Amino acid sequence: MAADTTKPFYVTTPIYYVNDKPHIGHAYSTVAADVLARYARLRGRPTRFLTGTDEHGQKIEERAKELGEDPAEFVDRMSPPFKEAFEQLNCSFDDYIRTTEARHESEVQELWQMLEASGDIYLGEYEGWYSVADEAFITETEYEELDEVTKKKVKRVAEPSYFFKLSAYGEKLLEFYEAHPDFVQPAGRFNEVKAFVKGGLRDLSISRTSFTWGVPVPGDEKHVMYVWLDALTNYISALGGPADPGASPLYDKFWGEGAEQVHIVGKDILRFHAVYWPAFLLSAGITPPTRVWAHGWLTINGEKMSKRLGNFIPPKPLVDAFGVDVVRYYLMREVGFGQDGDFAHKHVLARYNGELANGLGNLLNRMVTSIVRKQLDGKVPEPGEPTEDEKQLLLTAQRAATEAAKHMDDVQPHRALEKIWELVGATNRYVDQTAPWALAKNGETEKLGRVAYTVLEALRWVSVMIAPFMPDKAKGLREQLGLDDLAVTEGTDHWPEAWGELPVGTQTQPGDPLFPRLHPKEQAKLFAGFGLGPDGEKLPAEGDAPAEAKTKTKKAKKSKKAEPLPEGCIAFDQFLAVELRVGLVRSAEPVEGSDKLLKLAIDLGEEKPRQVVAGIRKHYAPDDLVDKRVVVVANLAPRKIFGLESQGMVLAASTDDAFSVLTVEAEIPPGTRAS
Ligand code: MSP
Repeated sequence: MAADTTKPFYVTTPIYYVNDKPHIGHAYSTVAADVLARYARLRGRPTRFLTGTDEHGQKIEERAKELGEDPAEFVDRMSPPFKEAFEQLNCSFDDYIRTTEARHESEVQELWQMLEASGDIYLGEYEGWYSVADEAFITETEYEELDEVTKKKVKRVAEPSYFFKLSAYGEKLLEFYEAHPDFVQPAGRFNEVKAFVKGGLRDLSISRTSFTWGVPVPGDEKHVMYVWLDALTNYISALGGPADPGASPLYDKFWGEGAEQVHIVGKDILRFHAVYWPAFLLSAGITPPTRVWAHGWLTINGEKMSKRLGNFIPPKPLVDAFGVDVVRYYLMREVGFGQDGDFAHKHVLARYNGELANGLGNLLNRMVTSIVRKQLDGKVPEPGEPTEDEKQLLLTAQRAATEAAKHMDDVQPHRALEKIWELVGATNRYVDQTAPWALAKNGETEKLGRVAYTVLEALRWVSVMIAPFMPDKAKGLREQLGLDDLAVTEGTDHWPEAWGELPVGTQTQPGDPLFPRLHPKEQAKLFAGFGLGPDGEKLPAEGDAPAEAKTKTKKAKKSKKAEPLPEGCIAFDQFLAVELRVGLVRSAEPVEGSDKLLKLAIDLGEEKPRQVVAGIRKHYAPDDLVDKRVVVVANLAPRKIFGLESQGMVLAASTDDAFSVLTVEAEIPPGTRAS
């Protein structure tokens, strides 16, 4: 279906704290926003894409001090690497905002005055906890729930402060949520936000006096504004708002009526975007954004990225080793958008080999480089009359385009890619079935032309649909098909709709393989560049003896650090090796011929539900399990049970007279990791 090419689309990333260097977590948010921006442009929509850096606040000031630098010099040094990283990732942002820019600071002060004019700001005293790491005020209850290490990092603060009357916005926010059921996505996260608001809101401290690195409060310059009020305003200040209506055409176009705004954020900063931000805007009489999309976190071997663990992954070496589009593809394909996912170099290579080199690359090679070049003079042949096979492929292409578009509209890029690759797979199978090389050998020219045209046209469709994800590869693919790069223009929807637009007679341009296959030696070299073994496995650190020997040596040395685990205990990383995930039971049925087994289809947020065979038939009628959220061991090697493959294990507990599968109470999205 043609898109509404007139509806302006504004997509933003969080603005990044510059106390650190860019890593793949930052890359993930920005690439996702870029894919949405490129998709909107491809659909002909007026589009604006914003990213940038968050440069004020106590955290930055402290970091600059630690390094003996002036905060202004420090942020000037730390912001450009983010911009460069996003350029290296081929992110097509239209604007890059820094919160230390005058154009931003003046708008933040403007917004402050609007809140003040609404009577929502008053002067008081803040006494309580403040987490500098999160730049967040912490309640006593939240403080009590922190672990001992984090508690030490949280500061006790007692200082005069301006407050925003957030407590007056509980009902208004709930009404707003009710009227905008898609405001926060995924839906499960929206429920968490609503529950938080229903639990009661306290007024929010929005200024600080104990440090100076921030935007001064208008009229009371001893105070600097709370960094989140400052930071959130970037989304409108970059458009020139909240100026008087008509003063900024960009603001009117992308924040005005009829426009759509999507904030891509990590799940850790959802509260700021889904509660504070709309409350500020409602107070100022500004319409809140259309959608806040909270994505999950990338972990490294199941752990949070951190300098302490030495698992900080910067994007550049990945781009250098794998190529920018492969990294973009991986980030968007590997993890269900909204869920957490684990990053591993070997997973990047697995996707590369399986889906890119053997899937799309192979399809292009065998058709353009081989058949069309050798048998058809390199030219696009006449399509001829389609038979049932071609009609089937056309239907697959149409389904892929329709469903991929729907998933893009729903901000589910991984699902869109899944659909596009269904077309790649179906086209590869079509080539296998129609065996064009045999047609050529037997002189069946007409049939050969029909097959070649069909495959080339399918590749043309793919070249359009992958463009938001892999712009360079899309261009390269089109070049080989003899087509120009897509000329994206406002008002023209390029999404494939009509079959057969590839002009007959086009001279194809076979070139180097789009995704060259890597030989084992090349793979080993690539991994070695990351300090990994030939299959991408983690190598023991220098001086490490093999596990068993290590325990012995350490015992012998009686090293304090290597205290043996208490009897019967496992180490934390052994626990992390077990992937427990929330699974939603989609269907359940008895296994024929067995009175013990049920066959379950369990949604783990993946492409297809997993088939799990469980010995629970005596305890559950199949229907009782449907729609239950259970806990699944998701990385158990598949095994055959009663001739059926079981792709996971459902956890259950039992005594002699009671039995229960373990269930999850809240509406946690399927696939979420339990730990
Ligand atoms: N400055 C604030 C955002 C202000 S927006 C008005 C901030 N900055 S941050 O640099 O700490 O984080 C920026 C974003 O990066 C967040 O959305 C966060 O979720 C994301 N990520 C940081 N590490 C991440 C992963 N390991 N994985 C995925 N995203 C993560 O918060």
